[in-house]
Amino acid sequence: MAISPATEKNRQLRLQARPKGLLAPGDLQLAESPVPELKDGQALARVKYLSIDPTMRVWMVVDSYLPAVAIGEVMRAIGFAEIVESRHPDYKKGDRVTGLTGLQDYVIIDKSAKHFFQKVPKIPFVSDTVFLGVLGTNGLTAFFGMEIAAPKKAETLVVSAAAGATGSIVGQIGKIHGCRVVGIAGSDDKCAWITRDLGFDAAVNYKHADWKEKLAAATPNGIDIDFENVGGEIMQEVLNRMNLHGRVVLCGLISGYTKEEASMASLGTILVKRLRVQGFIILDYASRFMEAAKQLGQWKMFGKLKDRETIVEGLEKAPEAINMLFTGGNIGKLIVKV
Ligand SMILES: NC(=O)c1ccc[n+]([C@@H]2O[C@H](COP(=O)([O-])OP(=O)(O)OC[C@H]3O[C@@H](n4cnc5c(N)ncnc54)[C@H](OP(=O)(O)O)[C@@H]3O)[C@@H](O)[C@H]2O)c1
Repeated sequence: MAISPATEKNRQLRLQARPKGLLAPGDLQLAESPVPELKDGQALARVKYLSIDPTMRVWMVVDSYLPAVAIGEVMRAIGFAEIVESRHPDYKKGDRVTGLTGLQDYVIIDKSAKHFFQKVPKIPFVSDTVFLGVLGTNGLTAFFGMEIAAPKKAETLVVSAAAGATGSIVGQIGKIHGCRVVGIAGSDDKCAWITRDLGFDAAVNYKHADWKEKLAAATPNGIDIDFENVGGEIMQEVLNRMNLHGRVVLCGLISGYTKEEASMASLGTILVKRLRVQGFIILDYASRFMEAAKQLGQWKMFGKLKDRETIVEGLEKAPEAINMLFTGGNIGKLIVKV
């Protein structure tokens, strides 16, 4: 069925103000515009699912590895979409894509613009949403981050935000490599999930007063690899327990994303422990995504990677969903079903 611009509206969440702390009502504002008419070289895709990522909060405020979203612009987001009409040579109706759809119902994919869209296959018994999680950015981030970590059998790996989309996969890849894996997470339910269902050797709830002692007890041989998703006090305590010449994979610093000034882990610890610290951004690995997706897909098929999703219904709920990342409201991959 053709989309009629006259009757169909495109709801969009536009950035209205740069948030301070958590998103406040009105920072993202819902607007409606007509569904754009197609020109030659364009395809129209209907967005079905949106990936809710901590980096969106960074994009709202500062220039980082991508420029900050401009005030008034549709909020940048990764999404899963299906082509509904096409005058684009590379896409036909029914094709499914992931890419920077933005927080909106419809997106135009234009031949002349760089959109970072990738076609995804329809695989029996595989849900669309895995292409935003375990076979999407988070799986790829875990995969390449663990490549940087270069884990060896029997080493101790600690991962923070361990019950989140990225951390939960990192820990399971650590187990595939034969590591002792310890996760740090913010609730007893999350700790139970990663140990009972995902096979982590231990989990520490950082909201309990004695979490530092628990971390020490869970890492009797010290820590060889810190897969860092959080920063601040959690990172400092992990660094305190690192073995000499340990490796720190700096993936994210979520504890600082909603603050004006993030608290930094001590460079002195890095010096004294002779740690190797490497930051990375997943976009740098774009040319190897297919290779990684094949490996992740195989692990998933053979039951070595389990995943879980927290689904929030409705485009209009996206601002609340973004805040859930910072209050720990998600287990596994956080997705908005449009
Ligand atoms: N380098 C890259 O290319 C790249 C790509 C993707 C993601 N990342 C980074 O990876 C990290 C995880 O991202 P994700 O998408 O997988 O999100 P996620 O882990 O699914 O969700 C974020 C989780 O972080 C935890 N958290 C939030 N604030 C915290 C705080 N102040 N202290 C401790 N934990 C806190 C919460 O869990 P608790 O209940 O456990 O607190 C929350 O559920 C983020 O830092 C993100 O920026 C980096």
